[in-house]
Amino acid sequence: MRKSLVAGNWKMNMTVAETVAYFAAGQLDLPAEYAKVDVAIIPPFTALAAARLECEKRGLLLGAQNCHPQPSGAFTGEISADFLKELGCSHVLCGHSERRALFQEGEVFVAEKVRRALDAGLQPIVCIGETLEERQAGHTERKLDKQLTPVLKLIKRDEVRKLVVAYEPVWAIGTGLNADPMDVEIEFVNLRDLVGHHGVASIDVRMLYGGSVSAENAAAFAARPSIDGVLVGGASLKPDVFRAIVDAFARAKK
Ligand code: PGA
Repeated sequence: MRKSLVAGNWKMNMTVAETVAYFAAGQLDLPAEYAKVDVAIIPPFTALAAARLECEKRGLLLGAQNCHPQPSGAFTGEISADFLKELGCSHVLCGHSERRALFQEGEVFVAEKVRRALDAGLQPIVCIGETLEERQAGHTERKLDKQLTPVLKLIKRDEVRKLVVAYEPVWAIGTGLNADPMDVEIEFVNLRDLVGHHGVASIDVRMLYGGSVSAENAAAFAARPSIDGVLVGGASLKPDVFRAIVDAFARAKK
């Protein structure tokens, strides 16, 4: 049985002071029965240490937004997966569409990050998704295949349980236009087929949806049995809104 994961990607937002204030609001002091859902906060690197203290007190998970494929060395400005592990992270985003588009991260580079994250003992959240043009041209499946296949080639069978795939259509990110949960389920069937073709147990891979998830639409995603959680951007910046999304998953996943 895959446990749901609700993860808040803060992107380049939140100072240390804002991070402390976010938790002080009390919205993420979750009741014991919410332990059936994993909740992760993914702050900027500079707020990881402060967020770690707050997350540990509350049984929340901590993630980072990026890592470098190499363990150490002359890569000025980059962050190693080992540093993140030392700071208490359990998860790291790999290949978020903003990094692919704005920082020209290619599929093989992203796959190498995933490999490195696993080697460092982190669970990679691999973000994949098609643009609007690709969707309109009927190329969604081809695009997801192109992004996920290099990752699957570098993963061993027994590591698949640690892999999280976040399907985030680029046209849905930050636009207020979320994908239809039923369409997401169809994409997930295709993705599980693809994972299965690589000889790994696709049933074990956690699959999240991301893109304009909100307090209003979270329940519709939570209600779909094959959607194992959500990756939330903008709506995770307000603790009450993020809490409402967590509530939706805690209610649905009994
Ligand atoms: P959004 O971002 O929820 O603001 O659309 C999602 C993401 O980028 O992970």
